[in-house]
Amino acid sequence: MTNKRKIGWIGLGKMGLPMSQNLIQAGYPLTVYNRTRTTTRLLADRGAQIADSPKALAREVEVLISMIADDRALEQVSIAAEGAFAAAQAGTIYIDMSTVSPTVSSRVAEAAAKKGIKYLRAPVSGSTALAEAATLTILTSGPRDAHDACVDIFGALGQKLFYVGSGEEARYLKLVLNMMVGLTSGMIAEALTFGQRGGLDWNQMMDIVNSSVVASPLVGYKTQMLRNRDFAPAFTATQMAKDFDLALGAGRALKVPMPITALVRQFWTAMDAQGKGHLDYFALLSLFEELAGPQKGADNH
Ligand SMILES: NC(=O)c1ccc[n+]([C@@H]2O[C@H](COP(=O)([O-])OP(=O)(O)OC[C@H]3O[C@@H](n4cnc5c(N)ncnc54)[C@H](OP(=O)(O)O)[C@@H]3O)[C@@H](O)[C@H]2O)c1
Repeated sequence: MTNKRKIGWIGLGKMGLPMSQNLIQAGYPLTVYNRTRTTTRLLADRGAQIADSPKALAREVEVLISMIADDRALEQVSIAAEGAFAAAQAGTIYIDMSTVSPTVSSRVAEAAAKKGIKYLRAPVSGSTALAEAATLTILTSGPRDAHDACVDIFGALGQKLFYVGSGEEARYLKLVLNMMVGLTSGMIAEALTFGQRGGLDWNQMMDIVNSSVVASPLVGYKTQMLRNRDFAPAFTATQMAKDFDLALGAGRALKVPMPITALVRQFWTAMDAQGKGHLDYFALLSLFEELAGPQKGADNH
């Protein structure tokens, strides 16, 4: 018998699936809910219980975690009629690890406070590969005592854990990081297309970028994808559009002009219009290549 706390897990998407499996691997008894049933079977095969709704899930656990798509999903799994808050006991810890807006998150925080639920915002930085390897970076804000009580759980999901405040701080920090990540793909797409059309050897250019001052862990992770032009998504262009919208909305509320983010946001719309929204956001390179027209011969250099 394990003495680990029983955890309720909501959301078995690209991130939620490997993360929940890591908790099982670490010995936590898990009950899971997913809106559609296809993926729950995978967890049932590994010993998880299945719940029919977030509300049913909340009845039986002390700690609830959600990893879902967006603001709407967060409201549905927490404060809606069949949401977890309808049944969670006072003292339950609710951790949401998705990327959502500070505005909707603070609405959830108000509802949690009324019910005595301890609400932690814990968005993550890192890709599906890091989720699988349990090496995510986890940014948390909310009640400090709840954070401290969950360090073991976070340790089974990630490698770096930062506590950044008692309110929505983690939501802002996640958007700060994703703005920079998304802007990097815009910068890379434009510069590499320019370099290639200038006659540079693609692989050599990638090697040199990776050993230059603009090398970064992000550029390193994406180098193979750029070399092979295999844009199977770790994080889609459509998902990046969502995060840019969250950042731009939060920026408007704070009266912070964000013209560079607004400009690159337009390319996520173009990706969608060109049928590339489901590809990895680094597929922006392929859009820039198309904008540059057919490759010219060496005589044109
Ligand atoms: N992928 C990454 O590399 C990455 C990295 C860092 C952070 N994130 C963030 O982590 C979150 C999850 O990302 P993901 O890549 O796992 O997304 P995903 O593969 O699209 O999975 C989304 C999950 O949310 C559920 N969902 C969507 N709408 C719902 C609703 N209205 N009610 C209830 N459940 C709903 C989906 O259920 P169904 O299966 O029924 O559709 C699925 O379980 C997002 O906020 C994302 O921005 C992702």
